[in-house]
Amino acid sequence: MKGMVRFVGAGPGDPDLITVRGLRALQEADVICYDALGVAPELLEGLRAELIYVGKRCGRHSRSQEEINALLVELAQRGLEVVRLKGGDPGVLGRVGEEALALAAEGIPFEIVPGVSSATSAPLSAGIPLTHRGVADSFALATAHRRKGEEGFSIPPYNERTTVVLLMPVRTARAWQAALLRRGYPRELPVAFVSRGATPAQRVLVSTVGAAAADAEAARITAPTLVVIGRVVGLRGRGLRWWNDRDARECAEEPTRVDVLAEARA
Ligand SMILES: C[S@@+](CC[C@H](N)C(=O)[O-])C[C@H]1O[C@@H](n2cnc3c(N)ncnc32)[C@H](O)[C@@H]1O
Repeated sequence: MKGMVRFVGAGPGDPDLITVRGLRALQEADVICYDALGVAPELLEGLRAELIYVGKRCGRHSRSQEEINALLVELAQRGLEVVRLKGGDPGVLGRVGEEALALAAEGIPFEIVPGVSSATSAPLSAGIPLTHRGVADSFALATAHRRKGEEGFSIPPYNERTTVVLLMPVRTARAWQAALLRRGYPRELPVAFVSRGATPAQRVLVSTVGAAAADAEAARITAPTLVVIGRVVGLRGRGLRWWNDRDARECAEEPTRVDVLAEARA
């Protein structure tokens, strides 16, 4: 008897921001395979399911993607109800397609429960809607993660009506800053780093294209952080800041809750 796999988006890190369907899937699961960053630990408390950690630690994969694919297949073939829990929305830089294709190849049924992506919710919690009438009518999302030897970013040429969101921007800040300047982004265009967005630990650093990398280093920005580039960032200072977040410059020396959890797990 084959089981099935439900891919569930956990939301941006606040346990209240998972969907009702996603929460029900966690409660019904026999086994949950989860990543570290982005998944609120509270979501995993008090469940009957066996918990298997398959995430990254200090930039290293604890299991390769192929091993994760094989694990999901094996668990489902044992007849188990499996949840594969992923941060944010599984379809946004979440590799859900690779894992679901591995299941499809073995004829294993799966379901995908969408989640609240950090890409939209973290900016919004920082008082930065990605579109705003008369300011921006489109947005582009790109990863700023680079594998060794990989060049270039999928950053579009500058258009003042397009907001750009970069995920995984911390390690490559110097490189994407240079890419923005090459593509015609004005040096004074505002940039916001939103760390642990949409959670009680949210920190925000507002900078500019010209100063972004140096400011992020000075403020010791760490993952999970995303970057918003464009005129919509200015709305935060014009009255849209509604979350009681902290300025990243003021708490550069303090360890974060995520740092403390990562240490405890190591
Ligand atoms: C591998 S991507 C996965 C994105 C996820 N699927 C989503 O929809 O949010 C991980 C990156 O998402 C961003 N991220 C995730 N949670 C975040 C949060 N609460 N605040 C800011 N950025 C976050 C960071 O850029 C992080 O490095």
